[in-house]
Amino acid sequence: MLIKRPRGWEIPERLATPESVYLNRRQILAAGGFGLALSALPDPAAAETDPTADLYPAPRNSKYTIERPVTPEATNVNYNNFYEFGTHKNIAAAADALPIRPWEVKIDGLVEQEQTFAIDDLIRKMPLEERLYRHRCVEAWSMTVPWTGFALADLVKLAKPLGDAAYLRMETFMMPDVASGQKQIWYPWPYVEGVTMAEATNELAFIVTGAYGKPVAKSMGAPLRLHLPWKYGFKSIKSIVRFTFTDERPVSFWEDLGPEEYGFWANVNPEVPHPRWSQAMERDIATNESIPTKLFNGYAEYVAGLYTDLTDEPLYM
Ligand code: MTE
Repeated sequence: MLIKRPRGWEIPERLATPESVYLNRRQILAAGGFGLALSALPDPAAAETDPTADLYPAPRNSKYTIERPVTPEATNVNYNNFYEFGTHKNIAAAADALPIRPWEVKIDGLVEQEQTFAIDDLIRKMPLEERLYRHRCVEAWSMTVPWTGFALADLVKLAKPLGDAAYLRMETFMMPDVASGQKQIWYPWPYVEGVTMAEATNELAFIVTGAYGKPVAKSMGAPLRLHLPWKYGFKSIKSIVRFTFTDERPVSFWEDLGPEEYGFWANVNPEVPHPRWSQAMERDIATNESIPTKLFNGYAEYVAGLYTDLTDEPLYM
């Protein structure tokens, strides 16, 4: 099946406003006498003080460090895939409208007992730490991020899943009045992702609550997102409201739209091209440098063992 639906990650880079243009526009406005007016505008980040701000910066776990320089925060916060707010990279201003307090997180399905947590109670229960991780998008760009959060395995422990739980399904908020992308009815909202229980409890699987030493920005998936550094970025679901333990393999947002191009496993492999482009190299979004992509995005020692018995599965798409 040929998918003709528009996808931001397939639009040519020239159609997305690069950060340098965005920044120049602000500088030009300021130089032209609009500086006062701009500084008088409310800063949404400052106006809405995060009730967990005192938890940051969290101690860095030195086990998860990398050889590449950290992507500058301003680059990262302004170059995002978040289809709820638009199919291009410049969604940061639109995402600022997302109300992230109050925010409830539900844990249900095959668990001893269903639980609902207010986000601040959940974050305060967890041992926060900082980890430097690579992030590789299926579109062949990459970045390096100092995430703060906790192991997904700790959330699994808190959830107390039953023995027949084989998968963890995660779901993003549904607020079409705030996130206008959700009015595009040809997409299967809400955004859904899923992992096996073995993946969910692998030490690398990380629930993100912060980045760059403070609560994570809305454009990057506040107040709670996933990061799976060995998989293509679309598996790392943002702004999660629900974790469901299930015995059925979840169908994710992109798998639903194009199963022949975006599979359930989506493990990074430079030797398995996407049907329409090579995955051999990646572009660093900060430096534009072209870098060879590594198997499992460089994390094979942690995760290769999860897949040794799954030789019949399309593990790399
Ligand atoms: N989660 C939701 N809810 N909506 C999205 O559109 N995009 C995914 C993933 N999680 C997406 C999402 C994709 S394609 C990528 S590459 C990463 O988020 C991007 O994360 P970043 O914007 O922090 O770089």
